[in-house]
Amino acid sequence: MKNIVVIGGGNMGFTYAEGIFNAKIANIQIIDKSVERIAEINAMGKMKATDSYAILQDADIIFLAVKPQIAPLVFTDIKTVVNKNQLFVSVMAGMTMETIQQGLNIDKVIRCMPNLPASIQLGMTTYVGSKEVSKESLDLVGSILKSTGKAFEVTNEDMIDNTTGISGSGTAYIFYMMNALAEAAKDFGFTPEQAKTLTSQTFEGAIELYKRNDISLEEWMNRVASKGGTTREALNSFEYNNVHHYIKEGTVACVNRAKELAENK
Ligand SMILES: NC(=O)c1ccc[n+]([C@@H]2O[C@H](COP(=O)([O-])OP(=O)(O)OC[C@H]3O[C@@H](n4cnc5c(N)ncnc54)[C@H](OP(=O)(O)O)[C@@H]3O)[C@@H](O)[C@H]2O)c1
Repeated sequence: MKNIVVIGGGNMGFTYAEGIFNAKIANIQIIDKSVERIAEINAMGKMKATDSYAILQDADIIFLAVKPQIAPLVFTDIKTVVNKNQLFVSVMAGMTMETIQQGLNIDKVIRCMPNLPASIQLGMTTYVGSKEVSKESLDLVGSILKSTGKAFEVTNEDMIDNTTGISGSGTAYIFYMMNALAEAAKDFGFTPEQAKTLTSQTFEGAIELYKRNDISLEEWMNRVASKGGTTREALNSFEYNNVHHYIKEGTVACVNRAKELAENK
């Protein structure tokens, strides 16, 4: 079995570590610098956590799951311990494969873009490998990523930034829309609990209908909105206010920011 070490046992790092542990596909250990977090993970009695980088020597695959701002410090600390045979998997937003290769003096990197629902196995991840990564390694990492939801390979790094604009940050866009709907429900006199049920059940129902049928979103909108009816009135108001356009503009702003971060701005 392969030895995998995850550096950074926070939201994302722990999610992947747990996915790997539960799938029993590799030996898994976690490195974190927070004494409380290490104690917390060890107390769960499943995976071993430590603050020592020495365990990296025996790792086949190393997940990089610290905040991008911390990465240069981590690179300095581990550069002398890691080697070119090891495969690095980065979930760090806006950090290019080239930066990781140069920072660690290594070749094999897979960069991926997950999202928060990965923590409940409903994640969406895309990934791309550097040219030195074998098809076998890409497939292995692909199956690890799929333990947290859906995952597919993309053709180049730009598509990783583009993923940030859709699913990576997209969970927050959905919360934004849900928040508007829930606030409207409260304005109409529903209790907060009722507003939560109305909002979440509406989203869940719409998503399931969309997923279970091969019907376009426009067609679904037309099925709910009859001519001269109530829904059409709401959709007309959204269109009049250019809501569709501004949501798309938001995704472009997000992708541009991802590119800026990649350039260290
Ligand atoms: N959360 C998301 O939805 C999401 C989505 C896509 C991508 N990502 C990417 O995932 C990465 C991790 O994000 P996160 O939300 O999981 O962050 P997080 O919860 O803050 O986790 C990072 C962990 O790394 C630890 N750490 C700090 N310095 C370290 C070091 N030198 N060595 C080892 N561990 C160290 C932190 O400890 P302390 O708390 O003590 O600092 C923390 O436990 C980021 O690069 C982010 O871009 C996150």
